[in-house]
Amino acid sequence: MPATILVGAQWGDEGKGRVADWLAAQSDIVARFAGGDNAGHTVYVDETVFKLHLIPSGILHDQVTCVLGNGMVINPVNLVKEMDGLQAMGVDISPSRLIISTRAHIITPAHIALDAASEKARGAEAIGTTLRGIGPAYLDKTGRQGIRTGLMAQEEAFADALYEMVKRTNVILEQQYGVETLDPQAAAQSYLEAALRLRPYLRDVAVYLNQRMNDGARVLCEGAQGTLLDVDHGDYPFVTSSSPTSGGALTGLGFGPKRVDRVVGVAKCFSTRVGGGPMVTELHGELADRLRGTGEHFWDEYGTTTGRPRRCGWLDAVALRYAAEVNGFTELVLTKLDVLSGFNVLKIATAYIVDGRQVDLLPDTTLELERAEPVYETLPGWSEDITGARDADDLPAAARAYIRRIADLCGVPIRTVSVGPERDQLVHL
Ligand code: GDP
Ligand code: IMO
Ligand code: MG
Repeated sequence: MPATILVGAQWGDEGKGRVADWLAAQSDIVARFAGGDNAGHTVYVDETVFKLHLIPSGILHDQVTCVLGNGMVINPVNLVKEMDGLQAMGVDISPSRLIISTRAHIITPAHIALDAASEKARGAEAIGTTLRGIGPAYLDKTGRQGIRTGLMAQEEAFADALYEMVKRTNVILEQQYGVETLDPQAAAQSYLEAALRLRPYLRDVAVYLNQRMNDGARVLCEGAQGTLLDVDHGDYPFVTSSSPTSGGALTGLGFGPKRVDRVVGVAKCFSTRVGGGPMVTELHGELADRLRGTGEHFWDEYGTTTGRPRRCGWLDAVALRYAAEVNGFTELVLTKLDVLSGFNVLKIATAYIVDGRQVDLLPDTTLELERAEPVYETLPGWSEDITGARDADDLPAAARAYIRRIADLCGVPIRTVSVGPERDQLVHL
C-alpha cells in the first residue's frame, strides 16, 4: 500500500500538526523523517491542546504506530519528557505504539552549547535557531563523528561516546568561542537514565516500514519545518540543517519513491517566519499585528517551541510555486483561512522585482532574495466569520475566489482548507 508524504510549503508552522492529525485517522503508521525538537506541532482534540515536538501527531489516534526515523536528531532527555507528558495526558506510549530508529542521531549537551555559542558569535547575522542543538548534531552526523541512537542499547559504550564528544567539544567552546566548558562526566551521566528508558523502543525502522508496507500498511510521513528552511532548497544559510522536503522522507525513513502516491503540501493562507532570513512579503505595523493575533489564543503567531513572535506577511505565491515543484505536491491544504475574515482587501505576491527586473521564479541566491520587492495582485476580502464552514457553499464567494487563485498560481489542486484549529474545522471542497 502506498505512502503519503506531508510537508510544510513555507517557513514552518503552517499547521502540519493539525493536518497530520486529520490524515492520521486513515493511516496505520505515522513517521517523522527529519529535524528534532526544533519542531512544535499543535493539535486540538476537543478541550485538550497537544504540543508535540519529537513524537508524530499520529500518536493521538489509537490505531496508529508512530516512528522516529533515521533522518531525525533526537535529544533523549527531551524525548522522555515528552513521552511522560503525553502519558500524563492519557496517551499510551508503550513500545507497541512508538518505534525509534537505531540510525537516528543523538543531540548531546555539547551540541546545545555549540548552538548557543555559534549563534552568539554570529551577532547581527544570527540565524535565529531554536537553540536545540540541531545544526551541530547534523554537523557531527555528516562529519562522521556523531552518536547514533542505536548505541543507547550499550550503556558503557554510550556513556564513553558522550564523554568523548563533550571533551572534544570543550576545546572548541573554550578556544574558538571563549565560553564556559561542560563537565563530560555529568553530561554522560545525565543521559544514561533516558537511554535506559528508550532502549525497548529501538528498532531498524527501514526494515520495519518496508515489511509493514508489504503487508498493506498505510504510512503517513509527517514533515517538520518547511520547504524554505530546507538545507538545500531553502534560503541558505537561514535554514535548518536537515531536508524537510519530500525527498527527505525517503532518505529519512528508508524506502523507495515507488511507495509514494500522494504528496500533501501544507500552506498557511498568509506568510509567517520565525528567525532570520529574507521574507519578501513581510508586513509591519497594524496589518502584521492583525495577522499575528494578540497572543491571547494558542493559534496566534507565537512560536510553539520558543514563544517568539512570528514575522507575518501576505501570501507569497512565488515561494509557494517553488515549493510545489521542489516537493512535487499532488495537493495543497490551506490553513488559517478564518484569520483573513475582516480584511477589506487581500494581497498575493505573484512575482518579484529584483534590481529593476521582474522575475517569476524564486531567485537562487539569498542576496537577490534580500533585494527582492513583491509584485502584488489585490483580491477582495470578506467580512463573514467562516469558522463554522464545512463545505464550499458555506464560504463567501470572495474566500472561494482567493482559494481558487492560489491553486491556479501554484498549479496544484486545493481540496481541503482549515478554518480553525479544532479537528472538525475543515472545509472539504
Ligand atoms: P506546525 O508546526 O506546522 O504543526 O504548526 P504550529 O502548530 O506550530 O502552528 C500552527 C498554529 O495554528 C497552531 O497553533 C494551530 O493550532 C493553529 N491552527 C492550525 N490551523 C488553524 C486554522 O485553520 N485556524 C486557526 N485559527 N488556527 C489554526
Ligand atoms: P515546525 O515543525 C518554524 C527555524 C528557526 C530558525 C531556523 C534554524 O514547528 O514547523 P534550527 O533550530 O532548526 O537550527 O533553526 O529554522 N525553524 C522553524 N521555524 N517552525 C519550525 O518547525 C522550525 N524549526 C526550525 O526558527 O530560523
Ligand atoms: Mg510549529
